[in-house]
Amino acid sequence: MPTQTTTRAFELTDYGLDKITIRDRQLPELGSHDVLVKMKAVSLNYRDFLIAKGLYSRNLKLPLVPLSDGAGEIVEVGSAVSRFKRGDRVTPIFMQSWIAGQIAANDGKSALGGAIDGVLMNEAVFNESGLVRIPDHLTFEEAATLPCAAVTAWNALFETGNIKPGSKVLTLGTGGVSIFAMQFAKAAGALVAITSSSEEKLERAKQLGADICINYKQNADWDKEVLKHFPEGVDHVIEVGGAGTLDRSVKAARPGGHISMIGRLTDGAFDPTKLLMKHLRLQGIFVGSREMFERMNHAVDANKISPIIDKGYKVEEITEALNTLESGSHFGKIVLAF
Ligand SMILES: NC(=O)c1ccc[n+]([C@@H]2O[C@H](COP(=O)([O-])OP(=O)(O)OC[C@H]3O[C@@H](n4cnc5c(N)ncnc54)[C@H](OP(=O)(O)O)[C@@H]3O)[C@@H](O)[C@H]2O)c1
Repeated sequence: MPTQTTTRAFELTDYGLDKITIRDRQLPELGSHDVLVKMKAVSLNYRDFLIAKGLYSRNLKLPLVPLSDGAGEIVEVGSAVSRFKRGDRVTPIFMQSWIAGQIAANDGKSALGGAIDGVLMNEAVFNESGLVRIPDHLTFEEAATLPCAAVTAWNALFETGNIKPGSKVLTLGTGGVSIFAMQFAKAAGALVAITSSSEEKLERAKQLGADICINYKQNADWDKEVLKHFPEGVDHVIEVGGAGTLDRSVKAARPGGHISMIGRLTDGAFDPTKLLMKHLRLQGIFVGSREMFERMNHAVDANKISPIIDKGYKVEEITEALNTLESGSHFGKIVLAF
């Protein structure tokens, strides 16, 4: 048992953005390879909104501690812990069991804030294998943005993708995954086209280094705009839109190009004809492993990349923060501090 036996936890008690309540919880016994982490900050992903609304899965076990992404400090270590010591700054990995290699059939069952309790609690117990160290230049708030959105973008571009200096990357919208993809691709010397529904957000993306900015509301044929700038098509698409955007992503890609299938923000019908005629690779992405996270952190550290935080909240403002995510008004990540 940790010295401290209870903690303050936020629990999703029923489906609905206003169905998160605070209560004291018993902390599990600290196993020999466990550590107790004092959480300092958490961040939101689109998945957290879907989960709270009951749109992700109706089979989740409620009450559930929501959110997959957070950062904190280790305050106690089990007797056999070797990877960390008290005082280390850490973030949990999204799927606690996916350490290295290819994803296994059961890894999804260890996803925080979904299949198992998440990080929206003052203290939480983790096995030492389910944590990574935070790069020194990042604050807890910045580090809390990394486990899902950043690792997903990293996996898409560099682990399963093949981005090189001069590669042309298309990323859709200005949410968490897409802004990380833009930052990582630019750091690697790629050219980036980005779309958004907002001129103001496109201006911000331009200031952050985007090469081509396209308003997908004003240009329904945004794929044609991409091809005006990159006539041969892009090498890689960060496809967060889903069925409603995939046809155009296929049109915007070069023959032999790569599409990372990441999200499903839109509905629609997809015609696979062009995908096969252009010899494209369509790669499903489900966040990434701990080793991918660690490789990403080396790059974040080496390039002193700082995550883009739209707005900070206090953890007690979780419902307001989820409402902001639903509105789509944010640029980059929404973070909440303890
Ligand atoms: N497979 C995985 O491992 C994985 C991991 C993370 C996220 N995801 C998925 O990826 C998607 C994005 O997640 P996120 O957390 O980055 O979301 P987010 O931060 O909430 O960003 C959503 C943004 O997407 C843009 N968008 C919405 N509809 C669009 C459309 N029709 N065309 C282009 N852009 C559109 C909007 O940008 P503008 O306001 O600029 O228009 C919106 O702000 C979600 O479907 C999420 O579930 C999957």
